[in-house]
Amino acid sequence: MEGFHVVGGERLQGETRVEGAKNAVLPILAAALLPEGDTVLSDCPDIRDVHAMAGILKKLGCVCGWNNGEMRVCNAGLRHWEMPDELSKQIRSSIFLLGPILGRLRRATVTYPGGCEIGLRPIDLHLKGLKALGVRIREDGGVICCDGRDMRAGDVYFDYPSVGATENVMMAAALLSGITTIHNAAREPEIEDLQRFINRMGGRIEGAGSHVIRVEGVKKLRGVDYTPIPDRIAAGTFLCAGAVTGGSVLVRNARFNDLIPVCDKLREMGCAVTEEGGAIRLTAPERLRAFSLLQTQPHPGFPTDMQAQMLAISCVAEGTSVIVENVFENRLSHVADLTRMGADIRVSGHTAVVRGVNSLSGMRMTARDLRGGAALVLAALCAKGESVVERAELVDRGYAHLESALSRLGANIERISLREA
Ligand code: EPZ
Repeated sequence: MEGFHVVGGERLQGETRVEGAKNAVLPILAAALLPEGDTVLSDCPDIRDVHAMAGILKKLGCVCGWNNGEMRVCNAGLRHWEMPDELSKQIRSSIFLLGPILGRLRRATVTYPGGCEIGLRPIDLHLKGLKALGVRIREDGGVICCDGRDMRAGDVYFDYPSVGATENVMMAAALLSGITTIHNAAREPEIEDLQRFINRMGGRIEGAGSHVIRVEGVKKLRGVDYTPIPDRIAAGTFLCAGAVTGGSVLVRNARFNDLIPVCDKLREMGCAVTEEGGAIRLTAPERLRAFSLLQTQPHPGFPTDMQAQMLAISCVAEGTSVIVENVFENRLSHVADLTRMGADIRVSGHTAVVRGVNSLSGMRMTARDLRGGAALVLAALCAKGESVVERAELVDRGYAHLESALSRLGANIERISLREA
């Protein structure tokens, strides 16, 4: 097992650059099953979830090649429609493959991806969407068998704007003749990127970014080269690193419009946040001020994937901050270790009340999930003394070599090997 060893107290200064967004690349890799031809993704992040998804594509018969930020997918060998159990449990995003496999092969078998640290992660909306397209679904002891031989375009309504379920239906409908309309669709930037990718391949989708998405099925799609949108969550995490250390950072390849709620909160905390031609610059005050209330919502509300990071930096802000996690039922597990560092946090249900303290003390901690782990690293950067954040592999799922990027900004952080517990 590996961890991050951090000596807190360094002000972060300088520039960093974010790569393609994990949550755009994963559905786009699934959609790479749809065309007759190869897909080449550029600026692909070197993160565990991307390599895990490529591993699943290989098990389905594809050839995937990784070369320094470029991922090539050749799907000519796509034969299998059964998702390997051990892999679909390894990465929840495997559920995104249901749509494209059905789109190409009209059959699909997947095991329940199962929950994770932040919640039960049900897939009822995914299955509801596919059933609305005529997919016959039989569940048998955790295995979901989908028969799409009678699939047809149709109307889909989501009770909740689920990101993954929206993406699954977009991919399932892309090759279905007729018009499929998705109502109460998710509006995240990554949904718009998936639409852009499928349309680049010759698809006809419109409305992504709004609550209603219209898919006109086409007969076939062609393989393309594509560069996904930058990772807004990685960018927001680096901005928080600058904010919590009293530093000044420039994050290149960051789209300000994708981060408006986060930049708004950082400004409320006293940071100067400016857009500089495709980059975002943050200059922190001597001491952060508390924000009054942060509530996570589906886009364009405050992104749940930035909640842990903002909670961590509020621990040393002047005043009291209130954070409400509305999207996932168990996404406050980072509070325990922050409290051990000396933070003053009260949790009631999905609400955390954080009274800022003057400083945190370095501690040995354990990441419980991807963004919670990143939040503990942020806390360690500003803490007095040394910290160790165990289970770096959880953070590696969504951040490529986080310690290298932070070191280049002046942080005293290194990756260390730890004896298995
Ligand atoms: C995507 O997950 C992201 N993952 C998540 O990022 C992100 O937190 C989430 O969207 C919300 O923005 C990827 O894109 C790979 P949802 P997804 O379906 O699609 C409930 C990260 O840290 N729900 O919008 O799984 C669900 O339980 C990860 O990068 C159902 O009830 O999110 C949750 O409470 C974490 N039934 C809420 O909806 C369903 O069928 C939001 O889930 C599906 C979801």
